[in-house]
Amino acid sequence: MTSVGIDAFEIWTGNLVLDLPNTFAPAQGEDPEKYTKGLGLNASSFPDSYEDIVTMGANAAHRLMERKGLTPEDIGRIDVATESSFDKSKPISTYVAGCLEQVYEGDFHHANKGERKFACIAGTQCLDDAYNWIRAGRSRGRAALVIATDTALYERDDPGEATQGAGAVAMLIDEDPNLVELSAEQGYGSADETDFLKPQQQFPSVDGKRSMQVYLARMREALEDYESVAGASHPDDFAYVPFHTPFPGMVRKAAVLAYRHTIRDTPIEADLAEEIGRQPRREDFDDKAGYDEAIRGYVDDLKATERYQTWYETTIEPTLTISREVGNWYTGSVHLARASALIHAAETDRDLAGSALGVGSYGSGAQAEVHAELVADGWHEEIEAVSDHLDDQLAERYDLTFTEYEAVHDAHNHDKDVETAELTTPSREFVFDGWGRMGERKYRYVE
Ligand code: HMG
Repeated sequence: MTSVGIDAFEIWTGNLVLDLPNTFAPAQGEDPEKYTKGLGLNASSFPDSYEDIVTMGANAAHRLMERKGLTPEDIGRIDVATESSFDKSKPISTYVAGCLEQVYEGDFHHANKGERKFACIAGTQCLDDAYNWIRAGRSRGRAALVIATDTALYERDDPGEATQGAGAVAMLIDEDPNLVELSAEQGYGSADETDFLKPQQQFPSVDGKRSMQVYLARMREALEDYESVAGASHPDDFAYVPFHTPFPGMVRKAAVLAYRHTIRDTPIEADLAEEIGRQPRREDFDDKAGYDEAIRGYVDDLKATERYQTWYETTIEPTLTISREVGNWYTGSVHLARASALIHAAETDRDLAGSALGVGSYGSGAQAEVHAELVADGWHEEIEAVSDHLDDQLAERYDLTFTEYEAVHDAHNHDKDVETAELTTPSREFVFDGWGRMGERKYRYVE
């Protein structure tokens, strides 16, 4: 069977940055360590007033096409994953194609375009769609362009405000990929949940604490479903495990859950039993409350073991590096986690070709998905190209004062009609260029 997966990708961050411990924390009257240690975040990326989901998505896609020497004829579909769309009918992919057609001679008239919505998991669902399209033999040798783009803003003073972010990840899905091959096996955990939603509103209604419980419950279900098709997983099966990362503290909780689950009835559990005992089993407890309390105690002990900490430092911690500096990018977040892991492998001279990644995607509402990815031979060259540009982009972001942050938040609030001066000067990128006669947003490329 031909291998299908991610051939290449590029990341585009919003051009502004909010320093959480030094700028946001003092203004909120909070301890900076709540952000750096508790949530695990140093900063959030923000869009300048000329940036939005279209500009960031088109800029990521343009950079990807330029680097890979592609023209519009090479692309057979453009799927955009977003939960920040401003149009209920016309998909963001048409706006992105319109941008790209300004800078290429050809056009995307024969590419199938769409938009996927399921909170943060939509980016991974677009990968699925592209995979299925290629495997079904419908691609005519062309690749799919998948763009995950979001401005993840919360209402001012919502607890989620600390986890905001903005940026896009553009991925090229193709046969014989250079970066990672996607597994045919997948596991799902999906249920009708009301933890985080945007019913006819720009900013989400969030039950933050519940959203974390739902994330863990659905992720566990997805892992069990994955194992039912791929066989039992073992923590050492995966070189890295990139999770959807709304903030690194969430991944700390997901990682210990996954570890506990996958070591059950293995020699690792038996080895650890000498130190912390065996995992509690439900059948040994009269009621669920007693069992849950015993599990909490076991998890605390497990987290303190050297064996778990070594696994976490090697397999999970490296996936969080980009997230710490940019916040939650919703649909793009799990793809940033994969990127962080691969950059870490390149920086530490790890020979990753042929190794597996275990990928845990999640979207509120809610659905988790688990699949594996096999790292391809061309991964190192790919990741070096991405990482050089990413480092520059992150370093060049404009550092917001708190007053500027408030103004930028207002400028992106659809209910407020405020003009804000640009804080950065666009260069070689697409920018928002005002409104058209039917209320459409217009864009132009700035040299
Ligand atoms: P909060 O109530 O402001 O924070 O909201 P907290 O008081 O719970 O503190 C957060 C952590 O910092 C805690 O760690 C504290 O102990 C610690 P934990 O106990 O959980 O391990 N902490 C400190 N640590 C060191 N020094 C200190 C200190 N103070 C506190 N001084 C919350 C946190 C996540 C609820 C909020 O930010 C929120 O509502 N965020 C948005 C929702 C969210 O991100 N949920 C995550 C799961 S759902 C998801 O991932 C989907 C999503 O991406 C959307 C989609 O799918 O589209 C959000």
